[in-house]
Amino acid sequence: MSGPIRRVGVVGGGQMGAGIAEVCARAGLDTVVCEVDAAAARAARERVAGSLDRAVRRGKLPESAAQDALARLVFTGDLTDLADRQLVVEAVVESPDAKTEVFAALDKIVEDPAAVLATNTSSLSVMRLGRVTGRADRVVGLHFFNPVPVLPLVEVVTSLHTSADTVAAAEEFAGRTLGKTVIHSRDRSGFVVNALLVPYLLSAIRMAESGFATAADIDTGMELGCAHPMGPLKLADLIGLDTVASIAESLYDEFREPLYAPPPLLQRMVEAGLLGRKTGRGFHPYDPYDPY
Ligand code: 3HC
Repeated sequence: MSGPIRRVGVVGGGQMGAGIAEVCARAGLDTVVCEVDAAAARAARERVAGSLDRAVRRGKLPESAAQDALARLVFTGDLTDLADRQLVVEAVVESPDAKTEVFAALDKIVEDPAAVLATNTSSLSVMRLGRVTGRADRVVGLHFFNPVPVLPLVEVVTSLHTSADTVAAAEEFAGRTLGKTVIHSRDRSGFVVNALLVPYLLSAIRMAESGFATAADIDTGMELGCAHPMGPLKLADLIGLDTVASIAESLYDEFREPLYAPPPLLQRMVEAGLLGRKTGRGFHPYDPYDPY
């Protein structure tokens, strides 16, 4: 791969994929977002357009820059449209099977052998995803935070197979091109942030489950007592309770520490389809049209 990364692909247009695509387009990059089909691709476009509108309304972005960013984005239901990309960021559901399938397919589709294949996984092994490709040295973790246009951090995750060139390209991309602050983590479940954050969210869920305090009081406690921008149950609702449960399972599988074990209430809420903001109800009720 010669020169800086200008052609980016994002696989998955949910809240993380749409956010990653938005920051790429806002940074002037030619960005292709791939979803499972044309209808999901249209929904991803709506998600990005809604967030760009929000940035304009909040005075963070001129209207013309929002239009330019949208014009740089292509939404597709066909993974082969990513063939000419210099970097692809996978941001599909936090499931080993789903992510493995995407990496195996990208390995066949992306033509440049020096292209970087990145995963936005929160907790799965970057090495295992790399091993399903014939180019594990080009596979790296690029872990963004939700809401992606607002939060300035990216974790760059290096597996035992990732080459130094790939890490340098990932860092240059996240830091210089997107303007994010980069921290580095080895390839351990949860990396730096989720390994610390998720046990805290699970403790809050256990506290609510035991009747120790109400969801509202737990959140108010951490917002007003510790100046967190949102309490732990609101944050779990923002991340998505299915994603929180998947991350907890990966952490527990890796470390076997009780603090990572998903509490029964979390499991039940996921089974009940009460996933937080994206379904309109989690620990709190939401307007489904309000992204956060
Ligand atoms: N583009 C750019 N800026 C935007 C924007 C957009 N689309 N939307 C909002 N903003 C800006 C606003 O202008 C505002 O900036 P200001 O403070 O300079 O005025 C700021 O973002 C906050 O926006 P709002 O006023 O609309 O909203 P709130 O004040 O209610 O904040 C929140 C909402 C940003 C979600 C805040 O509550 C927050 O930061 N919560 C914590 C989120 C968090 O911890 N995320 C990490 C989750 S863990 C994760 O993602 C990892 C994964 O693996 C699970």
